[in-house]
Amino acid sequence: MRNISREEMDIQKEYIDKIYNMQDKSKIKRAFVETYGCAQNNSDSERLKGMLESMGYEMCDNTEDADIILFNTCAVRENAELKVFGNIGALKHLKRRKPSVIIGVCGCMMQQQHISDTIKTKYTHVDIVFGTHALYRFPEILYRALTDNRVFDTENEDGAIFEGIPYKRNDPPVANIPIMYGCNNFCTYCIVPYVRGRERSRSVENIINEVKEVASLGYKEVMLLGQNVNSYGNYFDEKVSFAELLREVCKVDGIERIRFMTSHPKDISDELIDVIAEEKKVCKQLHLPIQAGSDRILKSMNRSYTKEKYLNIINKVKTKIPNISLSTDIIVGFPGETNEDFEETIKVLKEVEYDLVFSFIYSKRVGTPAAVMDDVLSDEEKHRNFDRLLEVQNEISKKKNDAYFGRTEKILVEGVSKTNPDFMSGRTDSGKIVNFPGDTSLTGKFVDVKITETKTWSLCGEMI
Ligand code: 5AD
Ligand code: SF4
Repeated sequence: MRNISREEMDIQKEYIDKIYNMQDKSKIKRAFVETYGCAQNNSDSERLKGMLESMGYEMCDNTEDADIILFNTCAVRENAELKVFGNIGALKHLKRRKPSVIIGVCGCMMQQQHISDTIKTKYTHVDIVFGTHALYRFPEILYRALTDNRVFDTENEDGAIFEGIPYKRNDPPVANIPIMYGCNNFCTYCIVPYVRGRERSRSVENIINEVKEVASLGYKEVMLLGQNVNSYGNYFDEKVSFAELLREVCKVDGIERIRFMTSHPKDISDELIDVIAEEKKVCKQLHLPIQAGSDRILKSMNRSYTKEKYLNIINKVKTKIPNISLSTDIIVGFPGETNEDFEETIKVLKEVEYDLVFSFIYSKRVGTPAAVMDDVLSDEEKHRNFDRLLEVQNEISKKKNDAYFGRTEKILVEGVSKTNPDFMSGRTDSGKIVNFPGDTSLTGKFVDVKITETKTWSLCGEMI
């Protein structure tokens, strides 16, 4: 593992300046960046956009106006990959009409050899391909594409951490802060350890400096990101736990809410549960993926816990933090899962009563151990189980939301509601989305909202 040196970063800054100086300043150059997948990818895109802005590009929201088009891709499931291929294919005509447009594809998908090979041979209108490990080299890669030819940079330089890349963040009040990269868990279905590499943590100092910086820019909430935040700092010479990091983040003035994603049940500590319970700024919300309820399937997934161990953690959390909001991830149809195994998952949903469940049908990922495991259920049966899971969980989610009816909740307003332009949208401490009539002057402020309507996925209310 290594930190990319300041000298290497300076070389990239020189490329940023070179591109900036190349631009014809009488014409606005525009960049379109589309992100697929998780919060980590969103955070990477914020850095790609930051670099592009430093090079003199303005962001735009359609490919027609763009001088550079970038797709930051996700490899976790096949449907995300198919969408990317469809969208790249659709740009063939645009490239023919406007050969000067630079088309780039980056992120997790590109870290897989068979995918970058396909782009090289079958999508010849793509100018740039680079993987997650090359993110910091983007200025150099773009410079080469602007001055020379197609660039493919998919080296697997494992373990690098880069600091000092400019960001173009979402507007306040919520800032994403990556605290670690990669994953060492090798769950047998998951491509992440192969495309994002081994686990490595940013230093406490760099994280706290970034949190202070966003606080000074008016951000009120931080979302700390990592594939497995509970193992933060495990490989430091002087060990720092995630709970200790959280306590440090709490000390930053101006930041009033702290959330984090994702926790692995095998690494969750009593110390962490205590920090969530004790620290006012740490939101009373925990996303704890279980993936499956059957011990046989959990073992085959290499999850390192049993259903009983998981439920013990949940009980401990509920006892210490009675108002906690819980969510989880579930995979339906993992190879070898029978209908009896699936029933174990349903039992867990009914017992835990999660506020929110993110469920996925298993998707075979080339190169992972599960890709060669035998299936038991047909696609039809898997879909039937998936639909049933949704039905069971929707009822539970609605019931959990119903408990908010009539309550007054402190909401941090994030912006205009996605579904109604006359409504503003924000979140409760527990992470529930609340929509209410209001105007944009409220963005970034805390307001008290009385909940007057509850739905499965969100709440509605009135400001008081
Ligand atoms: N198929 C389906 N779902 C997957 N996930 C990860 N890999 C796969 C896969 N191959 C899900 C897990 C994980 C979430 C981010 O995506 O539930 O927690
Ligand atoms: Fe994938 Fe498992 Fe790591 Fe999560 S913990 S990123 S599911 S390997």
